[in-house]
Amino acid sequence: MQRLLATLIVGLSAATPHSYAADYETELAASRKTVQEFMQSLKQELQAGMQDGGPVNAISVCNLTAPAIANTYSIRNGWDVGRTSLKLRNPANAPDAWERSVMESFEERKRAGEDLTTMEYHEVTGKKGSQQFRYMKAIPTGKICLVCHGEQVDSVTMTRIETLYPDDQATGFNEGDIRGAFTITQPLQGK
Ligand code: HEC
Repeated sequence: MQRLLATLIVGLSAATPHSYAADYETELAASRKTVQEFMQSLKQELQAGMQDGGPVNAISVCNLTAPAIANTYSIRNGWDVGRTSLKLRNPANAPDAWERSVMESFEERKRAGEDLTTMEYHEVTGKKGSQQFRYMKAIPTGKICLVCHGEQVDSVTMTRIETLYPDDQATGFNEGDIRGAFTITQPLQGK
């Protein structure tokens, strides 16, 4: 019986890792704020890029600006900030094993009917003394995203994308799909 219980507990904690929510409110709030700002700057850059010269111009904006913005946050805070996906455009945004499993759980949560706009996950990982607070937030596919990530991307836009990203997998999305996720790793000092 004890053996069975132990197995059950181990099984459960593997499926739903402990998130220590109460102890890490500061880290959680800081992650949420950074994602908000990051999302806002991306949106502005994208809109400005589209207005200036349509999707082909905006691709160059995404290509150069998105990683640069992510980098700014990383440098400012000593964190690792970025975007990732299960279907990648830029292989440099590839998820690690933890990020992949969180995004797979996001897909499950979506299938179970959860609202994408508030879908997030956080967890403390690593060994004591070198722990990290990790945070992810789902990125829903909106209508504007379909211009470059949808099922029917126009041929001029697609040619530009394929030139920059020969291994592109990030088309074929529909409105309401999970396009990917923001991901933040904060090193925890003294915790
Ligand atoms: C003008 C074309 C264009 C539009 C519109 C666009 N994207 Fe992208 N997207 C790109 C490009 C180019 C990249 C690769 C950026 C890079 O090199 O990091 C990208 C990368 C991404 C990534 C990073 C993961 C990966 O696959 O490399 C996510 C997440 C993403 N886009 C989400 C969105 C969402 C959500 C929208 C709508 C709000 C959107 N995109 C609209 C062109 C676009």
